[in-house]
Amino acid sequence: MQERLSFPESQSLALKYFTVSVVLFGIVVVAGLLAAIDYVHPQFLYPALPFSILKILHIDVLIIWILMAFMGALFWLLPAEYGRELVGLKLANIIFWIFCATVLVVAAIFVFVQVGPGTEKTLWLVNQGRKYVEEPRWAAIIVAIGVAVFVYNIVGTAIASKRVTGVVWVVILNLVPLFFLYLIAFPAPTNISVDQFWWWWLVHFWVEATWEVMIGSIVALVLMRLMGTSRRIVETWLYIEVALVLATGVLGIGHHYFWMGAPAYWLGIGGFFSALEPLPLLGMVVHAVYDAGEHHMKMTNEPAFYWMMAEAFGNFIGAGIFGFMITLPQINLFAHGTQWTASHGHFAMWGAYCGVISVIYLALQDHRRAALFAGATWKWGFALLNGGMIGMVGSLMMAGMAQAFYERAIGGSTFNAFVSASSSPWFIEGLGMRLVFAIVFTAGYVVLAYDLLTIGKRVLETSRAGGPARAPAE
Ligand code: HEM
Ligand code: HEM
Ligand SMILES: [Fe+2]
Repeated sequence: MQERLSFPESQSLALKYFTVSVVLFGIVVVAGLLAAIDYVHPQFLYPALPFSILKILHIDVLIIWILMAFMGALFWLLPAEYGRELVGLKLANIIFWIFCATVLVVAAIFVFVQVGPGTEKTLWLVNQGRKYVEEPRWAAIIVAIGVAVFVYNIVGTAIASKRVTGVVWVVILNLVPLFFLYLIAFPAPTNISVDQFWWWWLVHFWVEATWEVMIGSIVALVLMRLMGTSRRIVETWLYIEVALVLATGVLGIGHHYFWMGAPAYWLGIGGFFSALEPLPLLGMVVHAVYDAGEHHMKMTNEPAFYWMMAEAFGNFIGAGIFGFMITLPQINLFAHGTQWTASHGHFAMWGAYCGVISVIYLALQDHRRAALFAGATWKWGFALLNGGMIGMVGSLMMAGMAQAFYERAIGGSTFNAFVSASSSPWFIEGLGMRLVFAIVFTAGYVVLAYDLLTIGKRVLETSRAGGPARAPAE
């Protein structure tokens, strides 16, 4: 490991972001679990916490969770690239606390103000009504400021250090759309097609462009630290990935324009370009596996390495393959908006987060100077979380295929067909199995949180007591 707490202030900022991100992950899991129980026992917790509120909590916290995790990861990794501390530490610390308070207040608003007329006032104070970014406008403004402070830290530090590496360039250029796309959360067009048209810019371009590039950059930085992969190799791969992401993902947005009132030419454009979208994701897997082989699987931090591999594979299979399955208009006609979509959504988002868990393990190794290799707790967390997620997305796909087949293909999308597909054994058992695997996933979360909280401390205690503790390979 080259840099051991060389940048204590930036790194303690990053640790704060990581801590909150792991706590928010817990909220996402609990809200998801309760929503999953609703699918099996529809009256569960109704009317105190109806499904609609649980789902909003689940997916809105999810976005903030992943954003904060990305910020923490870059705050941790980039000072070593710059060779100095971040320039806006004070601001980032202040906005961090405002962020936390905002999440708590917005969550309370969602839980306590569930119904009522939608007016200009409720748009500002209660709920903006746009999936994934439902937070009221005042809160959305705070998120935008938080992202702006993040951008300032990344760009400002680059200017101050005058050391802008290839990876840093990619990160900086990527922040421009990351910030501006969020502003699409604000206007409220009354024409639903226009509204959807722009909302997909936010959702699709975030996840399939800016997040993909962010993930690629994190993988590049982690590979250099974990395995000592040469800068030339990681940067070349990163450029190839970015070029492919842009070449396929920009017009790939058409896969969301099939049935929402956009012109028919999107059927061809969206189908063709989005079908190519798995290519950059494949590139990332090939790169990670190639590097692991090249270095004979010798790495300085085993959990970080496994989670990084989980990112590459989760991203390729969850986003690339599962996305590909439903992306051609001929298939999307049947799969659109079913549990099949939810299956892909879960797997793809999970792929993105695995990389952050990898960075958290790297950070803890530095921070606690811990012998991370001792003990098997992290392996349990890894196995339960990934096994639980694979089980959940498999079950959801089964339920979604039943919907596509019985409701859409055979039933012709009528309301009766919807009802009868929802009572088909494939659908019911699929959602039952999802709940079973959700419990496995939740157990994995508990183990992961315990491991992250105690890792260095626990191992030190064992080694003091004369137990087995191996130092991390340097
Ligand atoms: C115990 C774990 C989890 C359970 C039980 C769970 C359950 C659920 C449920 C019931 C929904 C609502 C689906 C619907 O409207 O029909 C949902 C939506 C969603 N969840 Fe989860 N979830 C879990 C973890 C996660 C994680 C870890 C992520 C991200 C990494 C995630 C991402 C999403 C997304 C993106 C949606 C919206 C998908 C859509 O509407 O198509 N979930 N989840
Ligand atoms: C990291 C990358 C990706 C993430 C995080 C992601 C996540 C998601 C999520 C959460 C949704 C549900 C949106 C909603 O609420 O309706 C979705 C929809 C969709 N995704 Fe992805 N995705 C990724 C990459 C891809 C790729 C590479 C493809 C194609 C090859 C793809 C194809 C689709 C399609 C076609 C839909 C719409 C499904 C429908 O019509 O209901 N996605 N994605
Ligand atoms: Fe998309």
